[in-house]
Amino acid sequence: MLPQRTLGPNGPQVGALGYGAMVLEGYYGRADEAAGIHVIQHALDLGMTMLDTADAYGNGHNESLIAKAIHGQRDDAFIATKFGIVFEPGEPATPLATGWNLAIPLNATPAYARRALERSLQRLGVDTIDLWYLHYPDPSMPIEETVGVMAEAVRAGKVRYLGLSNVTAEQVRKAHAVHPIAAVQFEYSLWRREAENELLPCLRQLGIALVPWAPLGSGFLTGTVTEITSDDFRQHNPKLTGGNLQANLDRFAPLQQLAASLDLTPAQLALAWLIHQGADIVPIPGTRQAARLDENALAAFATLDQATLQQIDALAPVGSALGGTLVA
Ligand SMILES: NC(=O)c1ccc[n+]([C@@H]2O[C@H](COP(=O)([O-])OP(=O)(O)OC[C@H]3O[C@@H](n4cnc5c(N)ncnc54)[C@H](OP(=O)(O)O)[C@@H]3O)[C@@H](O)[C@H]2O)c1
Repeated sequence: MLPQRTLGPNGPQVGALGYGAMVLEGYYGRADEAAGIHVIQHALDLGMTMLDTADAYGNGHNESLIAKAIHGQRDDAFIATKFGIVFEPGEPATPLATGWNLAIPLNATPAYARRALERSLQRLGVDTIDLWYLHYPDPSMPIEETVGVMAEAVRAGKVRYLGLSNVTAEQVRKAHAVHPIAAVQFEYSLWRREAENELLPCLRQLGIALVPWAPLGSGFLTGTVTEITSDDFRQHNPKLTGGNLQANLDRFAPLQQLAASLDLTPAQLALAWLIHQGADIVPIPGTRQAARLDENALAAFATLDQATLQQIDALAPVGSALGGTLVA
């Protein structure tokens, strides 16, 4: 079983690695429903208790898939879901331009939040969501108002803990003043370390956990992504497209050599490095393959010594990757 980590000083315990279920919706290649259920159940068996989903993944399908996978073992899972990206026809939204060459339709108004919560509870088939994130702040309204309505859900017993995603340090401070925030989700990995500049110090000051999304660089850091086809959602990610993909492959090749010298796979090195950044960090790697869950889980048992961590700092400092990130 994986070692445990705590979300915030007095928060809930979860496995040191969670599981990101978004890949089960076919964004990075074909996904099969039965195989997806098996993968989620295998993640739980390994102790990857935090299952990360969002209402928008697969337009609601991902939450229904989680419901099928946890049937009969609800208490083994720590369910984290998100709201705020609009996918239902007829719902109003404010489009926000992002660094991924696409605009995201957002709605975090109190009325929409209340509707989204009821729909998520129904799709997940649970009475309580363990961790409910605002997926992306709505530029049309103050984050304090959104968190105010999220706090209502905690008081009503429908949500245990609140989270934020894709936020600035300033937004975290404003939100946390309204209601305690247990975790913040942000892109953080060996090739996207910008969270270290302002966000992570702020989270540490406030006692909030960081849940790195795309901890494997959306697959790039595993060394297996050498081209992106036109039906792959990662075509929107400027780090993986055009000349940037090859330039980044060249730039990050030494990390793969380092992993081999440590008897780790590149994926294990990427996850072990994140785990070594602090006990307040819980990465949520995604995969459609049970065997890769086994491989990734071993990263939680790897030890990187100081010399290795310094070597990694020299090979992959903040700002190494070419191409923008989602949060523009
Ligand atoms: N808050 C947000 O805005 C946000 C944004 C993006 C993602 N997320 C969350 O973060 C989670 C993880 O992010 P992500 O899925 O985008 O990226 P990721 O976890 O960095 O990478 C996933 C990719 O890595 C591959 N992979 C996994 N383990 C591997 C291994 N051992 N060897 C080789 N390849 C491996 C997977 O391919 P296979 O499936 O073929 O194994 C998949 O394509 C998502 O599932 C989602 O829950 C949140």
